[in-house]
Amino acid sequence: MIKFKNVSFDYGDDENKINALKDISLTIEDGEFVAILGHNGSGKSTLARLINGLLAPSHGEGLVDGSSTVDSSAVWRIRQQVGMVFQNPDNQIIASRVEEDVAFGPENLGCEPAKIRARVDEALAVVGMRELAHSDPHLLSGGQKQRVAIAGALAMKPKYLVFDEATSMLDPKGREEIVATTRRLNSDYGITIIFITHIPEEAALAGRVVVLSGGTIAMDGTPQAVFSDVDAAAALGIGVPKARLLAHGLERAGIDIPGSILTVDDLVAALC
Ligand SMILES: Nc1ncnc2c1ncn2[C@@H]1O[C@H](COP(=O)(O)OP(=O)(O)OP(=O)(O)O)[C@@H](O)[C@H]1O
Ligand SMILES: [Mg+2]
Repeated sequence: MIKFKNVSFDYGDDENKINALKDISLTIEDGEFVAILGHNGSGKSTLARLINGLLAPSHGEGLVDGSSTVDSSAVWRIRQQVGMVFQNPDNQIIASRVEEDVAFGPENLGCEPAKIRARVDEALAVVGMRELAHSDPHLLSGGQKQRVAIAGALAMKPKYLVFDEATSMLDPKGREEIVATTRRLNSDYGITIIFITHIPEEAALAGRVVVLSGGTIAMDGTPQAVFSDVDAAAALGIGVPKARLLAHGLERAGIDIPGSILTVDDLVAALC
């Protein structure tokens, strides 16, 4: 379980302080698929970096499986338990062969060679990249590069995976590949997913949506609940999925349509 208790985080010094997160309390249970949705500068990446101890709270406490993220005896275990996948796939590639890239993490953990081989093969199989194990990662598509980055995180055997806008530099096909992979990691492998995005359609696929605004939690609930109030979502700068917006327009035009519509399939089912 990930637990944040009254966490605040400030960048800069006393004179130029930027209060990026303000008194955040949040619990993420094992096995959840949580989307963190928020406009630019709302504090999403700061929250991601606090979860695995890359940043330490200015106030309050962050706990991963009961250990504080600032406890120096626990921080290496926490970083192994909480994998991160970032926005730019090119910045995450370090080797000139896919399998060497994926092996980097377990090598640093000091795993023995046979174990590294097994972990690399398994991680590449999970993300559907085993045939490209000998390829140069720099020559892959954006979606494939991100899948290599996910395999690298998986090879560490994490319990939690944090995706910080991991789809934002990809084309629609690449986005689909990554979203489908994250859903499989959650449903088939039980990995807890924290999926940071500014795209309402992606957040709508999560079991729970936490909305950040100005460094505070503005909403926390099911996608249906979070996107039910179109005007409130607009005021928070997050918007709603396009299908929800269209349904809202039809509703205002007097058509009887459920408020729970989030996807095109929902809309088609309701109208036809
Ligand atoms: N290294 C830094 N130094 C100073 N201020 C920072 C730093 N990183 C972020 N900030 C500020 O902290 C606030 C939160 O930033 P953060 O990057 O967490 O937001 P975000 O929601 O991830 O934004 P984006 O959607 O642009 O990725 C913003 O006001 C930002 O300008
Ligand atoms: Mg960010």
